[in-house]
Amino acid sequence: MEQGLPGKFGKCVIDRLLGQGATAVVYHATHEGLDIQVAVKVLRRKLSELRPQYAERFLREARLAARLEHPNVVRVIDCGVQDGFHYMVMDYVDGPNCLELLQQNPGGLDWQEATRIIRQAAQGLAFAASHNIIHRDVKPSNVMLDSTGRARVSDLGLAKLTVKGIVSLTQELHTVGTPNYMSPEQIRSPADLDLRTDIYSLGASFYHLVCGAPPYRGKSSMEVVAQHLSATLTPPFKRKPGLPAPLSSMICKMMAKTPEERYRDYDELSRDLDNMLEGRSTTADGFEESKLDIPDADLRRVLDELAFGTDITVEHDFPTPSPSGSAAQASSVADGSTDLDPFGPEDFSAYRPDESHTGDSTVLAEVLAERDSWNPTIIIVLVVIGVLALIAVAVLAAMSAS
Ligand SMILES: Nc1ncnc2c1ncn2[C@@H]1O[C@H](COP(=O)(O)OP(=O)(O)OP(=O)(O)O)[C@@H](O)[C@H]1O
Ligand SMILES: [Mg+2]
Repeated sequence: MEQGLPGKFGKCVIDRLLGQGATAVVYHATHEGLDIQVAVKVLRRKLSELRPQYAERFLREARLAARLEHPNVVRVIDCGVQDGFHYMVMDYVDGPNCLELLQQNPGGLDWQEATRIIRQAAQGLAFAASHNIIHRDVKPSNVMLDSTGRARVSDLGLAKLTVKGIVSLTQELHTVGTPNYMSPEQIRSPADLDLRTDIYSLGASFYHLVCGAPPYRGKSSMEVVAQHLSATLTPPFKRKPGLPAPLSSMICKMMAKTPEERYRDYDELSRDLDNMLEGRSTTADGFEESKLDIPDADLRRVLDELAFGTDITVEHDFPTPSPSGSAAQASSVADGSTDLDPFGPEDFSAYRPDESHTGDSTVLAEVLAERDSWNPTIIIVLVVIGVLALIAVAVLAAMSAS
């Protein structure tokens, strides 16, 4: 437990630790007034001290998320500040989250079970989208199962950190983030998103659930990010033989590089999930490869920004309302803040070496090679060699003249 942590938050008496993320620690508690079990998410003190505007936003957005009541969403009950700790009270979910489920089933879940979970999560996200809320951090640890097996999406609408934020906070808070499920457009221009970014992340989570590994791997977050932007996705059935081809195509469509190629909304996605389960054809049949639409120069710029922690636009969780029924109904606007980061804290624990992964990373390889070619060490070595060569030529010239 963090030093100075109060034993009680509002009417909630803390019992025990449930788990920790990059930005917060979650405790089991009993709500004295209501006599129910709850989960209390407490922002890490250091984070609220270092980024007070993030802490304020956490509360503001918890209040907005409290409006969402749906069977597939973890309800927010209360929030506030107790003895300097920013906290949020939510329903206690008495089962594992999907990342924990994957740790128990490292080869991946049964595909029918995974489909059932994703379908329910999609219903929770669809409800949020109908309230103009995009999640922005859909990932296995944010999909929880209760003891009846019902899937519930957590952390809906909460403030998310931005790329720039993670660079500094990873060092300051000693936590780690990974972009395993982040959409290409969220990486490139996070101020201009609609619900299809969540469909991508849900697809990436679906991929992890059925294959037992996230879609892309890399030695660093930057390599993973670059692959989301530019590498051809290895279809799930090639990574896990035996998966139905229509399922594999659906995941590829959810994870298409451009939002236009993806499902336009959750209705279309849910219809296809049902059709696939019942053996009928789907709109994704035959969908395998998504276009690599990012020019190398753009990719390099984004990688530079990630590497040096500069100039990545900000995440915005509560968009202005836009016409309902359209794919862009949950589009968002900038609010001017600059230090939030979309990386979650998860999944290095779930990383397993996977030699079978043969994703086409040609563009990535080229760009990284290009970056390497401008490595300052190489430049210094080249300059030194050049100077030595000049000296040698001068000495030879002097010797032949004498
Ligand atoms: N409502 C809840 N009921 C029961 N356990 C919860 C609840 N909310 C979170 N937890 C558990 O607490 C742990 C930490 O959750 P937290 O949301 O802080 O981290 P995370 O989802 O892994 O990453 P992130 O910080 O990006 O959201 C997780 O293991 C999660 O399963
Ligand atoms: Mg979470």
